[in-house]
Amino acid sequence: MRLLYLLLFTLVISCKTNQEPKITSEIKPVFGVIEKNAMVVSARKEASKIGKDILQKGGNAFDAMVATEMALAVSYPYAGNLGGGGFMVYRKNNGETGAIDYREKAPLAASKDMYLDENGDPIPEKSQLGPLAVGVPGTIAGIFEVHKKFGTLSIKELLTPVVELAKKGYVITENQEKRLEHFRELFIETNKDTILYAKTIKANDTLKNPMLAKTLERIIENGKDEFYQGVTGEKLVAYIKSQGGIMTMEDLNKYEAKWRDPVQFSYKDLNIISMSPPSSGGVCLAQIMKMIEPYNLSEYGHNTLKSIQIITEAERRAYADRSFYLGDPDFVKIPIDTLISNEYLSERMKDFDMDKATLSSDLSYGSIPGYESSETTHYSIIDQFGNAISVTTTLNGAYGSKLYVPELGFFLNNEMDDFSAKPGTPNMFGLLGAEANAIEPEKRMLSSMTPTLVEKDGELWMSVGTPGGSTIITSVLQTILNVKEYGMTMQDAVNAPRFHHQWLPDVVIFEPNSFDKKILDSLKTKGYKTNEEESRVIGKVDGILVLPDGNLEGGADKRGDDAAVGF
Ligand code: GLY
Repeated sequence: MRLLYLLLFTLVISCKTNQEPKITSEIKPVFGVIEKNAMVVSARKEASKIGKDILQKGGNAFDAMVATEMALAVSYPYAGNLGGGGFMVYRKNNGETGAIDYREKAPLAASKDMYLDENGDPIPEKSQLGPLAVGVPGTIAGIFEVHKKFGTLSIKELLTPVVELAKKGYVITENQEKRLEHFRELFIETNKDTILYAKTIKANDTLKNPMLAKTLERIIENGKDEFYQGVTGEKLVAYIKSQGGIMTMEDLNKYEAKWRDPVQFSYKDLNIISMSPPSSGGVCLAQIMKMIEPYNLSEYGHNTLKSIQIITEAERRAYADRSFYLGDPDFVKIPIDTLISNEYLSERMKDFDMDKATLSSDLSYGSIPGYESSETTHYSIIDQFGNAISVTTTLNGAYGSKLYVPELGFFLNNEMDDFSAKPGTPNMFGLLGAEANAIEPEKRMLSSMTPTLVEKDGELWMSVGTPGGSTIITSVLQTILNVKEYGMTMQDAVNAPRFHHQWLPDVVIFEPNSFDKKILDSLKTKGYKTNEEESRVIGKVDGILVLPDGNLEGGADKRGDDAAVGF
């Protein structure tokens, strides 16, 4: 299979850009948009286009990030945001790498047991819906920090097209109509009133958000302080307070985005650069890839019984470690070097048996001597100068806490649910946590976001990431493997059917109607519990691949309205 893909790949890339590839076999690889200079792939074509326009104007990937992030806040309120947070991993054209953490954090008045009832049991609605679910937003701090360090165009140049988009409006897609319809009642219930997005909105309607346009205009005028110290911040805090929330101006004043060292590791001839804690993404991805590295996946084939088993067992072990060891590195000591070391990981896989499933109930986190303890959205950008970024940003759940500040025009996150409200009790993604991810004032909640860049032979090769809560890590993993091991195009790699295992619950989730029934039956015989019924989308991956001739292939996941735009 891999050889076939590679052969076709070579045939195709030797053709001139934008020409229909000459395919001689019945398996026809599908290529995404191919462009020569630069590419932006995001959840909305309006946002990808605004980012591309900034690049075409001479801006770099970091300038385009500022514009794309805000354009998603306008046109993709499901996850794009001013009221949430995110992570960005970058690789400059000189090979320098880094990452920024603009994750939300717990308000000063937050406490360990704030979501527990009188019996000490979690009340999920409290951490998922409404004012108490809201973490201190980091997005505006993040984009301003990136702009300060790397930006070349003015904030006014970057955000004016976004203000225009908010004023003129964007066209609602069928997917958006369905999602808005689905959440309408919850919007009204949470906000105790109707809001912009609660009115009946149909596909092909043009939706304007004048209040968000005004907020953005004030931010252009007054910079980051507008959000954290100015009128916007005051309105935000007053609104949250009026709804019964605990966030204060002091929380906003104290918020800072933080530069972090990304997690870096090798996988065969690739060098992977991914997000470090407080995201679990990079560490888990490293653990899984290192555990599967000794196996010849390309020989076993894509989504075959052996490949699924090996990947599932590595995922099971990595997620068990995630639940125990990972949290905010400013609060807990995380033994990252050990967790991603070959020695530790080969020990973790020692009891893997190709004949039968390991039971999650028989497996805990690994022992390290001396150690005591949907929605989201992703975009990838490679600019005409060779700089690359990978950004995942979120409100956590769909439309976050559903709490919407009418005067400011945006939703607020429910990221507090990513903390472990009670160690040992799962959050909305079924993820378990321990003390390392317990709530503490000013602590950042553990994330699964996995914005990732990949080098091959020392050169930039891929920018990739996805939304999907706990499935983020495994979707990024499978996309990289689809290209590296199974020779797929970027487009085929993001579209290919995916599966997911996260230790607990002990079940492998498969995208419905996408896997060979015989393989699923064989897995069951070996003791794997499988679930094909769950309609949950397993990620919505966006990526860019640098082709051998230097052209860029954008892969925009068919599962959404995602679009690749370049020049
Ligand atoms: N809120 C999803 C994540 O950060 O993993």
